[in-house]
Amino acid sequence: MLEKLERLPADTILGLAAACRADPNPDRVDLTIGIYMDEQGVCPVFGAVREAQRALVAEEVTKAYMPPAGDEAFNLGMQRLVLGADSPVLRDRRVGSVQAPGGCGALRIGAEIIRAAAPDARVWVSDPTWPVHFPLLGSVGLSFETYRYYDPASHGVDFDAMAQDLKKAVAGDVVLLHGCCHNPCGADLSLEQWGVIAAMAERQGFTPFIDIAYQGLGDGLEQDAAGLRLMADRLPELIIAASCSKNMGLYRERTGAALFICRDEANAQALVSQALVAARRIYSMPPAHGALLAGRVLSSETLAVSWRTELEAMCQRINGLRSGLRQKLEKKSGRDFGFIEREKGMFSFLGLSPEQALRLRREYSVYMLDSSRINVAGVNAGNIDYLADAVTAVL
Ligand SMILES: Cc1ncc(COP(=O)(O)O)c(C=O)c1O
Repeated sequence: MLEKLERLPADTILGLAAACRADPNPDRVDLTIGIYMDEQGVCPVFGAVREAQRALVAEEVTKAYMPPAGDEAFNLGMQRLVLGADSPVLRDRRVGSVQAPGGCGALRIGAEIIRAAAPDARVWVSDPTWPVHFPLLGSVGLSFETYRYYDPASHGVDFDAMAQDLKKAVAGDVVLLHGCCHNPCGADLSLEQWGVIAAMAERQGFTPFIDIAYQGLGDGLEQDAAGLRLMADRLPELIIAASCSKNMGLYRERTGAALFICRDEANAQALVSQALVAARRIYSMPPAHGALLAGRVLSSETLAVSWRTELEAMCQRINGLRSGLRQKLEKKSGRDFGFIEREKGMFSFLGLSPEQALRLRREYSVYMLDSSRINVAGVNAGNIDYLADAVTAVL
């Protein structure tokens, strides 16, 4: 039976990251996979997470299963982090949430809920979107529609085209939005544009599903959630998949949350019960370690302050790299790279062709996706000149 199965190609991004690691060129630059890296090229553990971990290891007395919905401090902390501590939705108890294995797990639980509520729902995704959205949501049987989003000519959001396409979304459809720091293009909606999409959801009855995996890495924790919170305040229902991979550095601990904003408390509780049955079908109980750490960080004032301070420094560093790269590229190439500074979070398309991206890999050991998406956090003081020279050479 098993011999019928053929070997599948490796995931493109993971394959490129592995090829970069194996490249003997000491000047190689890895701009592929979406993880934050510091000046030394290390993806660091936050001080607050380290401290929480020390306390957890000292105090932990059991490895028994987690409760099916996960850690209570984590769930409450995530609700407050994403929606804002003074959110009317929290006051009215209109949100239900469950811990999930990473943002991916939360997206999958969200997809299961959508299928249970509306098996024929179409999920509208931006063009482009993070490619993993397709298997995560498609594997439960949901179908996709695409709305225009990124305009390569202006390196920004083509909002008129987006709004025009979303006019076709109807009640029973789901519109998937990136909460902030769009992956892969880095171009985000303005608050005013979030308001327009919220008004369309009100009028047309579709349900937004917000994937927020980079809160705190664009403009800051509160600003990055402003569009999401506007929707939460205005709409009767909203689905959210939140991840602690990037903003708490908990990548490998698989820490995330699925949040369901509903018409009332009873409906929110019903959604949690549905999410638990869906989780039982897939992985039963959520993993403990990451959520117990995040729960401790979010519920301790001292740890939360330390975490927020470190996250702000990361965010400022990314924005500093954006402006540094823009300046270097403009100086060396004489072209306009202002968009790098306007975009948010870890990603940007450099606007190169697949052939140019290939030349960068082959001739300069500079690794980026064929689409020329770069992880800005892979740039540092030691490689920025080499990178700008290489890009200029292939332009
Ligand atoms: C847009 C987007 N959503 C969700 C995720 C999920 O992340 P994780 O499952 O690692 O928490 C990622 C990770 O790269 C992402 O880029």
